[in-house]
Amino acid sequence: MPRLLRVDSSAELDSSVSRELTRLFADTWRDRGAEFTVIERDLHRNPLPHLPAAELHYAARLRRAGAAVDPEAEALQAQLIREVAEADAVVIGAPMYNWSLPSTLKAWLDYLHVLGTTVPFDTPDRPLAGIPAVVISSRGNTYAAGTPGEGTDHTVPPLRQTLGVSMGMDVTVVTAELTLAGRIPAMASLTEQSEASASAARDAVRRLASALG
Ligand SMILES: Cc1cc2nc3c(=O)[nH]c(=O)nc-3n(C[C@H](O)[C@H](O)[C@H](O)COP(=O)(O)O)c2cc1C
Repeated sequence: MPRLLRVDSSAELDSSVSRELTRLFADTWRDRGAEFTVIERDLHRNPLPHLPAAELHYAARLRRAGAAVDPEAEALQAQLIREVAEADAVVIGAPMYNWSLPSTLKAWLDYLHVLGTTVPFDTPDRPLAGIPAVVISSRGNTYAAGTPGEGTDHTVPPLRQTLGVSMGMDVTVVTAELTLAGRIPAMASLTEQSEASASAARDAVRRLASALG
């Protein structure tokens, strides 16, 4: 049963570019056959509480002696890790908010990235290693090489670092840029470039959702 975990974090419910692309990913995945299932986690509609205690950043055996952890928070963390571990692929809608991640998505990462559990620390174990993670990065402006925004994208790097470098997931990034061209009159001249970016992103999503898992 190839299972996709679809994660959304855009606060835009009607016209979100990242939601359109994660939906396309899920639809393409399901079209591969009845055994291709999708689990959804919408971090905006159902936000997680911020990580309530620093001790949750460490596997139980690495916590300070006597550290008390709320069992409900621990159970939620275990559930979130299990959701990823049981997925054959994960697609993550990651809009750029103030050069960074939506706080809802950051909260999810804070639960997932656990020293000694999902991240090797005192043992080499990396239970999420090799699971494909497709990051859908939507952004109003462009951060391409040679533009004024170059080097100021702080959305994709933390996702690559935590999911890929640290937890060993197989990260691919699909970018849809200049999404504000249709909304901001001063960006009207960039509409064609924006549409080309969206079209390339759709092609990449169809290709990945047809091949992964
Ligand atoms: C709170 C907020 C902050 C934003 N900050 C940025 C930003 O720093 N840079 C940028 O290029 N676009 C920014 N945008 C525009 C979004 O990145 C753009 O609308 C993108 O398409 C959002 O993804 P979505 O369409 O899936 O909601 C911001 C939008 C919001 C709502």
